[in-house]
Amino acid sequence: MTTADRTYNFSAGPATIPLKVLQQIQQELLNFNGCGASIMEISHRSATFIDVLNSARSGIRQLLGIEDSHEVLFLQGGSRLQFSMIPMNLLRNSEDRASYIMSGTWSQKAYDEALGAGNIDLAWSGKESNFNTLPKSTDLVLPDDSAFLYYASNETIHGIQFHETPATNDIPLVCDASSDFLSRPIDMSRHGIVYACAQKNAGPSGVTIVIIRKDLLDRSSDELPGYLNFKTHVEQNSMFNTPPTFGIYVIDLICKWLINDMGGLSKIAEYNRDKANLIYDVIDQCSDMYLGHAECEHRSQMNIAFNLSNDDLTSRFIDEAAKQGLTSLKGHRSVGGIRASIYNAMPREGVLALRDFMKSFYTRNS
Ligand SMILES: Cc1ncc(COP(=O)(O)O)c(C=O)c1O
Repeated sequence: MTTADRTYNFSAGPATIPLKVLQQIQQELLNFNGCGASIMEISHRSATFIDVLNSARSGIRQLLGIEDSHEVLFLQGGSRLQFSMIPMNLLRNSEDRASYIMSGTWSQKAYDEALGAGNIDLAWSGKESNFNTLPKSTDLVLPDDSAFLYYASNETIHGIQFHETPATNDIPLVCDASSDFLSRPIDMSRHGIVYACAQKNAGPSGVTIVIIRKDLLDRSSDELPGYLNFKTHVEQNSMFNTPPTFGIYVIDLICKWLINDMGGLSKIAEYNRDKANLIYDVIDQCSDMYLGHAECEHRSQMNIAFNLSNDDLTSRFIDEAAKQGLTSLKGHRSVGGIRASIYNAMPREGVLALRDFMKSFYTRNS
């Protein structure tokens, strides 16, 4: 297997990982840092692993400019566990309430799950327009006593992304950043919690990064089971149970790649914007064939979702693209069509190859 055999992989997650990072993993796999074993084979309590954990945490802190006000945790259970863990921890008393913005499948699932954990208000829903748009802050219905406002910064399935942080009048914001984490800067001072599963932009599946403001930890009841209590993970340095050591190691390498090779989050944000525009430009130029899902101002720079005029054309698009080494372009089973996920690690060359394919497919089929 050579690197030339690799495809441009547009999978929504688990997703493509920077080639340089994969090569480093390959090179270090048998003997990590001279310790005589792979990173997967050593104790999570060893000094060697603790250095990796600390380095991954400081990489995330450095990239996002996280102050001492917030803790950074590495958990398991995917983003899905956070759908219940967050309301369980933040809604301590039976009268506490929280507000949710429902902007797509993922925030809808989070809302549904939260209903079992407390009093949940809907601040806004985009369901009627099939999740192709997002609210302005003035559209939000937000009771003053909300314990937090929940939103998903990027809806992976519908391809819509908040380009401005919702305004909340000091109500803590909780953000599911699973599919745009580390793709652009985040104003952490506005957020109580930002969390993300790793398998899109930050590493392999199996680790979820949770960044939580320290004062919110006081809300977690001691009655909660150990794993489900954020305080446990802070007190145990993310090692209450055996952490996903390999995943944390890859996150560390990806942070180093972002810092040293890509120039940090402002630079990668520019790179991502440019890549996304290459595809959106074709969608706009060939709009009689490619029907973009999102309203223009809410288009995602991570997941580009569009339809073709019929199922036959869609299947041919996917098959022909795969033959040219452009893979995993099928839209999510719930919405169909095409989805091109172009996270940080998708090189510009891959996006150019997709753009050229889309243009030639258009010419050949119009
Ligand atoms: C925005 C968003 N939130 C949550 C999830 C669920 O993540 P997990 O499978 O790690 O629980 C996903 C998965 O694709 C996602 O895209």
